[in-house]
Amino acid sequence: MNEIISITKVEYDKLSSFVYNQFGINLGDKKQALVTGRLNKLLKQSGFNSFSEYYSYLNTDTTGKALDDLINRISTNHTYFNRENSHFEFLKNVAFGEINLNGLADKSIRFWSAGCSYGEEPYTLAMLLLEHFGHYSDKVKLKVLATDISQNALIRAARGVFSADNTSKLPVMLKNKYFIKKNKEEYEVIPKVKEIVTVKRLNFMRETFPFKKKFHCIFCRNVMIYFDPPTRDRLITRFAQFMEINAYFFIGLSESIGRTNKYFRFIQPGVYQKIG
Ligand SMILES: C[S@@+](CC[C@H](N)C(=O)[O-])C[C@H]1O[C@@H](n2cnc3c(N)ncnc32)[C@H](O)[C@@H]1O
Repeated sequence: MNEIISITKVEYDKLSSFVYNQFGINLGDKKQALVTGRLNKLLKQSGFNSFSEYYSYLNTDTTGKALDDLINRISTNHTYFNRENSHFEFLKNVAFGEINLNGLADKSIRFWSAGCSYGEEPYTLAMLLLEHFGHYSDKVKLKVLATDISQNALIRAARGVFSADNTSKLPVMLKNKYFIKKNKEEYEVIPKVKEIVTVKRLNFMRETFPFKKKFHCIFCRNVMIYFDPPTRDRLITRFAQFMEINAYFFIGLSESIGRTNKYFRFIQPGVYQKIG
């Protein structure tokens, strides 16, 4: 049966509050069609006849599966190689040169791709780190933490396999050096790059972040657009707590944290620096 299970205003309000409380994602009051479209198949497959039934299940499931399935469908994971390339140029031309290898407390350079989706961003960071610091492997360990809330996205990120079309967006030199052709349509990131990247699940809404060491750079691009200002501001404060002084913070080019933020100075669109 192909009938659409529709959502009432009351059901939508409850579900969008639930999504906001669990994941910080602010659906607003105009995404009924999107929510209905993205969740209908799930409801039918699971045997629910209404969003009210589904909502009860969300509130009573203790396995975590209900939340996993929900976020896998609600989150927008759109990403691609070389997105907002000016940020990678900034890394190569400015940020890398400011990292003093002799001044690293524990001989590691730590980057975080926060909201990494399918992995294009963290693997690019790993490749660029290798290009710049690869010759100093005796002096420094390169680390990129790649986190997301969507398990589906993380499974793909951990595989490190990308379509030929997607990899064609990368500079040819990086593609030739750091990928192997798996078949006609797919390319896989080589082990040397994968070794640098640790893929982990992390919900930005959790009470505390489980990090002992601070990062030299955080990328959180095109993620906070889904959050409302209070959630975004709380998250920015927490990012700041986990960054070394003068570390760079990258957000999407269409995003802003204001030019007078108390933790960061504005450098250029989408690029901020942690104030000492
Ligand atoms: C549009 S993608 C951005 C990917 C990449 N950073 C880029 O700019 O291309 C946004 C990602 O944020 C993740 N996300 C949304 N809410 C989250 C949360 N509460 N905690 C962690 N990740 C979240 C989504 O799962 C999604 O993969």
